[in-house]
Amino acid sequence: MPTPSAHCELRPSRCELRSSPPPREVTPRVAPAARTASLFVLGAGVVGKEVLEQVSSLPPQTRPPFVDLRVVGVVTRRGGAFDVRGVRRAVMAELALARARHDGADGACGRLVSPAPNPLELPARATQLDALARLGDTVLVDCTSADGMETVYEEALARGLHVVTANKKPLVAPREQVARIFAAAERSGASFRYEATVGAGLPIIGTLQGLVRTGDRVRSIECALSGTLGFITNELARGARLSEATLTARTAGYTEPDPREDLAGTDVARKAVIVARELGIPIELADVSLSPLVPAGALAAGDDLDDSLRRLDADFARRSEALRARGEKLVYLAEIHTGAPGSGRRAEVRVGPRAVPLDHPAASLDGSSALVAITSDRYPGAPLVVRGAGAGGPVTATAVLSDVFLSLQSSRRHGTVGAHGGPLA
Ligand SMILES: NC(=O)c1ccc[n+]([C@@H]2O[C@H](COP(=O)([O-])OP(=O)(O)OC[C@H]3O[C@@H](n4cnc5c(N)ncnc54)[C@H](OP(=O)(O)O)[C@@H]3O)[C@@H](O)[C@H]2O)c1
Repeated sequence: MPTPSAHCELRPSRCELRSSPPPREVTPRVAPAARTASLFVLGAGVVGKEVLEQVSSLPPQTRPPFVDLRVVGVVTRRGGAFDVRGVRRAVMAELALARARHDGADGACGRLVSPAPNPLELPARATQLDALARLGDTVLVDCTSADGMETVYEEALARGLHVVTANKKPLVAPREQVARIFAAAERSGASFRYEATVGAGLPIIGTLQGLVRTGDRVRSIECALSGTLGFITNELARGARLSEATLTARTAGYTEPDPREDLAGTDVARKAVIVARELGIPIELADVSLSPLVPAGALAAGDDLDDSLRRLDADFARRSEALRARGEKLVYLAEIHTGAPGSGRRAEVRVGPRAVPLDHPAASLDGSSALVAITSDRYPGAPLVVRGAGAGGPVTATAVLSDVFLSLQSSRRHGTVGAHGGPLA
């Protein structure tokens, strides 16, 4: 005789204690059937290749937006592949491999796979973007360092495609052009996200947007934003030659496609402008007070960069030695002052090398780490600090894919309404 269980069953007329079989096992809540979202990836270099790899090995999705990501296109300068049913993994691997061969010592470019019309070039572009828009739930992912992408973004967003980018250049275009990108997103409801453009995988843009949206007043930001220059200045402090340190950074995938952009400080200046515009500072790239790490004369395009750097090796070694003797270290910093009322300063953005004492937070950054220290009304004494790896394929690709999921999540929640922050400056 089974013991009566305290299992109360509601009947239409009464509730009674009665003998009953043990309760059935509770079925775990099943995730809703995943919908498919399409990715069109521009660039298969350090970041793009890692994005493709991470997409192909994503864990089962256990939280919204419950999407299966399908790569429908990969485009590089050497060719690409487009298949609405999903580009085969072997083809993607071949594209990345062709890139590696292209970079090989013999400079020979591997054979192209499935050459596809480049959607960045008119007149094919409009047709290609229309085709992508018809797929629905599609994200254009820019992992290139191409110029002129602001027009592509505007056209893509106008068609309802989400845009996620690691490419800083479109965000530092003249302000009215950038405003057109945000306006296109606003009109169509698609998302425009760019967390990976500053600090690679570090949560910097999102953090700033949170502070600004909730009414905090940022007073100043001091940041070591170049994982590349951080790596090079660390190597210099350890006694490495400038030319060697630059080559190592390039081989590790830390540098911009053209390392001159790092050494000239241009890349940091771009990041500083993106950050400053998030804070509402109406700044153009040309307004940044910029001092390069390496004299501009050594960075002329067309000259052999390795030769130019080797000529500077002795001078940099002497300076590193002198700094060591004084207990200082060379770091490359961006400083943003918002000129907030009461600060007595006008808004300004300065980027350049600085000798700092060894107890300065930027002096202890190792490898390619980056650091952003935000002083605001809510963080007046001890700044809000974001710190960690500031370059590299895996962390940057993580930021890119997080932005992809956020874009798709917002479009699921609100139908066509996307969530994009965006500087109005
Ligand atoms: N690497 C990092 O740690 C890092 C961190 C944060 C942000 N980023 C940004 O991410 C972007 C990519 O960086 P990366 O290091 O991956 O560069 P990369 O290794 O040089 O790769 C660039 C890729 O973009 C492709 N590409 C360039 N211009 C193109 C164009 N006009 N049309 C189509 N494809 C084009 C290249 O094609 P080919 O293969 O044919 O040359 C290559 O596949 C850059 O904007 C960079 O600033 C990089």
